[in-house]
Amino acid sequence: MTERYEVLDKAKQFHKDNYTEKKFIMGETYIPASGKVLDEEDLCNLVDASLDMWLTSGRFTDEFEDEFSKFLGMNYTSLVNSGSSANLVAVTALTSHKLGEKRLKSGDEVITVAAGFPTTVAPIVQNGLVPVFLDVELSTYNIKTEDLEKAISNKTKAIILAHTLGNPFNLEEIMNLVKKYDLWLIEDNCDSLGSKYNGKYTGTFGHISTYSFYPAHHITMGEGGAVVTNVKQLHDIIRSIRDWGRDCVCPPGKDNYCGKRFLKQQGELPYGYDHKYVYSHFGYNLKVTDMQAAVGISQLKKLPCFIEKRKENYKKLYLGLKGLEEYLILPEPTENSEPSWFGFPITLRENINVYRNDIIKFLEEKNIGTRLLFAGNIIKQPLFVENAIEYRMIGDMKNTDSIMNNTFWIGVWPGIDDEIIGYIIRSFEGYFENKETLPDTNL
Ligand SMILES: Cc1ncc(COP(=O)(O)O)c(C=O)c1O
Repeated sequence: MTERYEVLDKAKQFHKDNYTEKKFIMGETYIPASGKVLDEEDLCNLVDASLDMWLTSGRFTDEFEDEFSKFLGMNYTSLVNSGSSANLVAVTALTSHKLGEKRLKSGDEVITVAAGFPTTVAPIVQNGLVPVFLDVELSTYNIKTEDLEKAISNKTKAIILAHTLGNPFNLEEIMNLVKKYDLWLIEDNCDSLGSKYNGKYTGTFGHISTYSFYPAHHITMGEGGAVVTNVKQLHDIIRSIRDWGRDCVCPPGKDNYCGKRFLKQQGELPYGYDHKYVYSHFGYNLKVTDMQAAVGISQLKKLPCFIEKRKENYKKLYLGLKGLEEYLILPEPTENSEPSWFGFPITLRENINVYRNDIIKFLEEKNIGTRLLFAGNIIKQPLFVENAIEYRMIGDMKNTDSIMNNTFWIGVWPGIDDEIIGYIIRSFEGYFENKETLPDTNL
């Protein structure tokens, strides 16, 4: 043990010596739209896990899963290797025969939006289900709820939605629909860890919620994600799909956890067929390594500070850019919500003569990182256009198209401080001061 502590002390020292914060030089230092904040504890945990040489999921994974469930006040967390895998597992879990009549079957419809990240929608198609798209609101960037009922058909079985860039969707309206039509709800909480709706964390309303721990996100473990539920049956199915489709719930390295390893009759297998090799689903292997989980544990301890910093940065950017509202639609929190913002989305008003690529290019030249709202309108992406994918669309996609054409986002992540925010605000002001053609209200 003493030897282990010596190694860990050295790791801490190594971090201090090699990862000192670089000074921000206005205009010269690139300001990424998202980033990770790692400290000596993260490096220590990474080294600690590597010293175990366990390599696959193990004690650090168990600890992260327990701590993450506690943070959210939920019963079950399953770590997976990405947010995309989390969404794949979540949707696939709902197709399980173990859910009887409630299972999603090929051709069933799933309500979602087209303005978002592709792997919120991909698992719908990958599971032979049909996405039904609704338009979104500008400024909250979430589903428009007034047309929700129009989307319901006798094939509608589920809803999967992300809380866009940290801003919760209208959970009250969505939960009413879920209850009225007995639908499944998956909350893609990949961009909204720590956001609240009516005082309660997002990700705790639906049947399943998903998370990403990729470096851009609220906490990171490099590659990583999680699937969370309160329902034991769903949890067992989620584990099965994550772990090769197996029926057995024994953790790695424990062979007869269930106590019935040789005592079951399943499928048409001979009685007592080793339960470790009984498969009830067409599954995957989407587990993480303990090294990833270990970094997640130390990151989780810093999550409350990260959330606060993101909220503060949002406020400062909002106040600083408010004077430019004649040109820009600024992001507004959904009513009754406290977003833990992932990014700061901005939409250029349509009546001004500014091209998004022009302002983005200007900002990037000033070393201010920008991102688009992911796929914009996913229906217009090659994956839909080139593959003749079946889908339904409710109403028009006016705002979704506007997002595709006029929206981008900038960073609020904890690495952004007041000096950087001041620089970003001045850069925006500079851009509009120098635009002679603005505003052209006849356009
Ligand atoms: C809303 C949303 N869902 C899912 C994902 C996928 O997460 P990952 O990159 O970990 O696969 C992302 C990625 O940023 C996302 O923004």
